[in-house]
Amino acid sequence: MEGAKENPADELLALVRHLKSQIQSGIDAGKTPAYLCMAGEPACLDESPAEITHAPKVPSARKTVTLGEVKNELGDCQRCSLGRVRTNIVFGEGNPRAEIAFVGEAPGGDEDIQGRPFVGRAGQLLTKIIAAMGLKRTDVYICNILKCRPPGNRNPKPEEIAACEPFLIKQLEAINPRVICALGTFAAHTLLKTDVPITVLRGKFHSYHGIQLMPTYHPAYLLRNQGAKKQVWEDVQKIMKMLPQQAS
Ligand code: URA
Repeated sequence: MEGAKENPADELLALVRHLKSQIQSGIDAGKTPAYLCMAGEPACLDESPAEITHAPKVPSARKTVTLGEVKNELGDCQRCSLGRVRTNIVFGEGNPRAEIAFVGEAPGGDEDIQGRPFVGRAGQLLTKIIAAMGLKRTDVYICNILKCRPPGNRNPKPEEIAACEPFLIKQLEAINPRVICALGTFAAHTLLKTDVPITVLRGKFHSYHGIQLMPTYHPAYLLRNQGAKKQVWEDVQKIMKMLPQQAS
């Protein structure tokens, strides 16, 4: 590479800068960075997928676990320190064969008490978004990156994510939804293994283990920023185009 320095540390720095500028040019051109795609998978989709088919989902040849099996394996989880302070595990709920799965950050106070995802104020807004899509909560699947409430709703810690994420991955594998909607920065960053800002990620489909993933703003953010509702609605409409028509 041009301008590479003799010193290995300088050379590495130059390489990182070069990669950063390449990624930024791609983002500026409206492309999803290739590094967000999983190895061996088709390239990430951009804003308008070339071909939208509503053919039935192809069952995977691989034997996947069921949600019940994932729940059994999770058990009375004490794999991280949140196990000692939670009231209830919030496993996730909804249609085990859902076409769309919503993934949030972590349970809050209401969710911790009820053992159900998105039942507080942000949850009520998510329920309205789902209704605006012509769906019911029981049609979709709703879950979080973490299954236990971090005290005071603080951000999840890396060791908590490391302990919990394998269960989420298995849940999503069991459901095999057509689309995943990542709610907010935290879910998008964890699922896509990136720290690209949500303002850049949202509104475009990304590939998550071969499943199309649309990041959008978290409903809790919408409660504080009503203006962002328009963008969420745009994102949700793109998701709806990927789903088979609902029977009326
Ligand atoms: N916020 C989340 O991210 N998840 C919930 O379940 C509730 C609030």
